[in-house]
Amino acid sequence: MIDLASNASDPADIDADLLVLAVGEAELERGELLERIDARVGGVLRRAAADERFRAKLGQTLVANVRDLRALRIALVGLGASPDPSGQALRIAAGCAARIAAGVGAPRTVFAWSSAAVTVEPARASEIAAEGALLGGYRFDKYLTDESRRRPAASAFIVRPPVPVGGDDAVAFARAISTARAVARARDLVNEPAGAMTPTALAEIASGWARDAGLSVEVFDRAACAALGMGLFLAVAQGSTQEPRFIHLAWTPPGARRRVVVVGKGITFDSGGLSLKTNEGMLDMKTDMAGAAAVLAAVVAAAEEKLGVEVHALAACTENMPSGNAYKLGDVIRSLDGKTVEINNTDAEGRLTLADALSFGLRLKPDAMLDFATLTGACMVALGPNTAGVMSNDDALAGELLAAAQRAGEEMWRLPLPPRLTEQLKSEIADFKNTGERWGGALTAGLFLKEFVGSVPWVHVDIAGPSSAAKEYGHVNKGGTGFAAAAILEFLRRAAA
Ligand code: BES
Ligand code: MN
Ligand code: ZN
Repeated sequence: MIDLASNASDPADIDADLLVLAVGEAELERGELLERIDARVGGVLRRAAADERFRAKLGQTLVANVRDLRALRIALVGLGASPDPSGQALRIAAGCAARIAAGVGAPRTVFAWSSAAVTVEPARASEIAAEGALLGGYRFDKYLTDESRRRPAASAFIVRPPVPVGGDDAVAFARAISTARAVARARDLVNEPAGAMTPTALAEIASGWARDAGLSVEVFDRAACAALGMGLFLAVAQGSTQEPRFIHLAWTPPGARRRVVVVGKGITFDSGGLSLKTNEGMLDMKTDMAGAAAVLAAVVAAAEEKLGVEVHALAACTENMPSGNAYKLGDVIRSLDGKTVEINNTDAEGRLTLADALSFGLRLKPDAMLDFATLTGACMVALGPNTAGVMSNDDALAGELLAAAQRAGEEMWRLPLPPRLTEQLKSEIADFKNTGERWGGALTAGLFLKEFVGSVPWVHVDIAGPSSAAKEYGHVNKGGTGFAAAAILEFLRRAAA
């Protein structure tokens, strides 16, 4: 990981190969920091900005070669319409800075901004800048054999806050490192091809992290899940030659006042089963375990931070495959809590595996239960590719999660659970069908899950869109994004406080 440092000197005098200035649109007109640096390099920045039509739009970048300065290059990164009260623009800009550093091969990068453009509290701004840089420096390049295609991230990233933060920097950086590590772990799990990231591999990796962090680990195989009665989970798993795994990690610190269960969808590959997807629809389906990746990475980080909250992470992991053994349309399956479900689409497998995981979670008698799942294309139709849909039976808990996500810089938006749509899930021969009609598909999926959570405060987060990105943006890489890991960790930090 990139080395972080803080330095309050004039950014132009800090020993580095690249100086990145994050500037807001207003500052481009008259900004003290930009003005001062530009004067040191004979006005090169303003000229380059004019030539390249750099308007300081959020995430816009400009790189200029300079002389008369320690750094060989200066880059400008836009913060957009300032000021930036949440710090999200700063996170995005820092991610861009790390990307530029990797692109030009700068080992040491200084990243500076002015207090006019970023109005978040100074120590918090340092944390966000560090987090953005660490996340923007993320690479998944283990399968690239051509050395030249592996662009190493900067080795040192020097955060230059507008006002010295002093000792608080260490705390800010420690938190940024923990957050970024959790997100990177989730990204690694998601980016790994399904041929390698099988349920057994996923369980082994998560168990290894958990043991190192002092969590307790339980992994159930097919026979153990059958003995428990996880009919829905095993119905999905029965079409695959890969062994399923039900993963339970627990962090149980003494004196915890709250017990939280986090459940993640863990379909390591979703072919659709007999309701087979198209080639196009299947292409990215190694990412269908992004919910599991997020909860597993977050609970490990919670243990590493020794948070004073009890947390259980659950993931029912399997492939969804068509085969002679696969579950069929019209099958009626019994869930762990005894409800019967008629299958009318084998591609609606996530809610089945989650239902059994939620029933298992209920038995742990949690104060709150949250699930994260790449559940429906319909949620992407509703909210677009970057925003998760939040559904809940408890306004206070939903509010807590939304606040944590906001602080973590992850876009989530509340959706309703209209009771009337439950009608669509009625079956002639069983308690429920597993899918409703086309309209409101994200909501009927949520309503299906709601049947399995009893009266426990519960939040369901559909992360089908933001779990994977078609192109890089700021601190978010292309491919598996690790979405929700940061929000869950932030939620747990607050639950512990
Ligand atoms: N894993 C998919 C949802 C998905 C789609 C995630 C696109 C990420 C990107 C899920 O298992 C699925 O297939 N859902 C179906 C539900 C339908 C059959 C009711 C869908 O969205 O089409
Ligand atoms: Mn599916
Ligand atoms: Zn799926």
